[in-house]
Amino acid sequence: MKARIHPPTPANLRRLAAVLRRGGLVAIPTETVYGLAAHALDERACRAIFRAKGRPAHDPLIVHVLNLAHAEQLAEFNPAARKLARRFWPGPLTLVLPKKTCVPAIVTSGGGTVALRAPAHPLARRLLKLAGIPLAAPSANLFGYISPTSAAHVADGLGRRIKHVLDGGACAVGVESTVLDVTHPEKPRILRPGAITAATLEKFLGVAVRPVRRRNSGQAMPAPGMLERHYSPRTLLRIRHPGGRLPPDVAGIFLRQPAGAAGPNVYWLSDHGTLEEIARNLYRVLRRADQSRHREIWIEALPADAGGITAAINDRLKRAAARR
Ligand code: TXA
Ligand code: MG
Repeated sequence: MKARIHPPTPANLRRLAAVLRRGGLVAIPTETVYGLAAHALDERACRAIFRAKGRPAHDPLIVHVLNLAHAEQLAEFNPAARKLARRFWPGPLTLVLPKKTCVPAIVTSGGGTVALRAPAHPLARRLLKLAGIPLAAPSANLFGYISPTSAAHVADGLGRRIKHVLDGGACAVGVESTVLDVTHPEKPRILRPGAITAATLEKFLGVAVRPVRRRNSGQAMPAPGMLERHYSPRTLLRIRHPGGRLPPDVAGIFLRQPAGAAGPNVYWLSDHGTLEEIARNLYRVLRRADQSRHREIWIEALPADAGGITAAINDRLKRAAARR
């Protein structure tokens, strides 16, 4: 059976909230990417997420909550974490904190910390309110593939593995949340860059916010979130400016519509060149280029000093282009 894509009517929202309360899976829109949601305190429901995605058990899930009060039932907050939640929630910031005992081990891959965020998408919030439970939700894609930013993307990847997708249109941010480890508040660490940048967090907290260095080459099991290859198209992807002579059997992805180039193998990420637009379109364009069955995809990276969400975009490109 194929998954049903539900328009967000009040009746459908009530029905899907009931599915979640009973331990079922529902793909839901968030402002970053679509998530595959399940009752976070129901171990069986969470196991079904891993099964549907083909996700390895050592990669923990993000738990979505309505607000800070709900989050405090699941994790031990410190003053810095509370301050961050008050300033950036609802929004694309995930906080990693020591978990409370009610959070099942499957959610945290057996670890002592849990990742939490309050999503800003109005439909995600309506569903959280109606269901009245925390929702574990990784991105709603097959493990390792490009994250979904529309209901159709979810159905493309998981259509035969899940029953319900809530249609919330295209995601406004387009790349996954910033994951910030605040278990040691004097030394916050970015585990995954996102729309809320290191510079913004540093200014707000008044302490240095560093990315965690990836040190897992050769290790049997990478630290959570540190998988080198991820977010990847099936076609070989190279970070390489597609201008000049783009071979006809190579799909080229430019940051902006290129002046000279045209043709079925020419793609671009933005009309106006803003970073927000590039982030919003990135996964949709990568998917289209991947489905176009070219021999390779060449994509232009952003200049490292472009600021804002640049670090997140370049991080995803690097991981999408990492060799198997
Ligand atoms: O924007 C987002 O964060 C989206 C939407 C659906 O909320 N979710 C998302 O989930 O991207 P996922 O599972 O695809 O990525 C979650 C990341 C993974 O890299 C995971 O390893 C990391 O968060 N993570 C989860 N729990 C963690 C923990 N306790 N410690 C460290 N990293 C954790
Ligand atoms: Mg993911």
